[in-house]
Amino acid sequence: MSLLTIRTYPDPELRRKAEEVVDFGPALRTLVADLWETMELNDGVGLAAPQVGIPLRVTVVAWKEARYTLINPEILQTSGAVTDEEGCLSFPGIFEKVTRPERLKVRYRDETGEPREVEVEGFLARAFAHEIDHLNGRLLIDHLSSLKREFVRKRLKKRIAERDRL
Ligand code: CO
Repeated sequence: MSLLTIRTYPDPELRRKAEEVVDFGPALRTLVADLWETMELNDGVGLAAPQVGIPLRVTVVAWKEARYTLINPEILQTSGAVTDEEGCLSFPGIFEKVTRPERLKVRYRDETGEPREVEVEGFLARAFAHEIDHLNGRLLIDHLSSLKREFVRKRLKKRIAERDRL
């Protein structure tokens, strides 16, 4: 296993639409293991392959005891709406209020290629929606007002400038 480098906004890799996984072989197993390792070391609740520069529809989500590896996930149904604070490993230090569905029904494949369906709600539904967004090149910042977007851009720029000075 190896630790992957997480791309941060505005890295253009984050905007690519990821491709469907067709090969459920050993390369996929390695990618999944590396995503888990990288996410856990960075204390994340979700990480999508495009965030490490790999444009494939693969994402991992961990919340409390739940662990999901979602390959080619599709949202079948949504209901309700909840506004809550959300962060992203590609937006370090940023937490903003985002409205997401309260419940989601998702179809996906596990890492062996087995088709699965699950209904999730609350924070897990938020995490699934956030990660599936990543596979479509859609980011946390896209859910914010233009004023908030400007604030987030400035904060990240400042953070990068500070890091480069070290
Ligand atoms: Co994210």
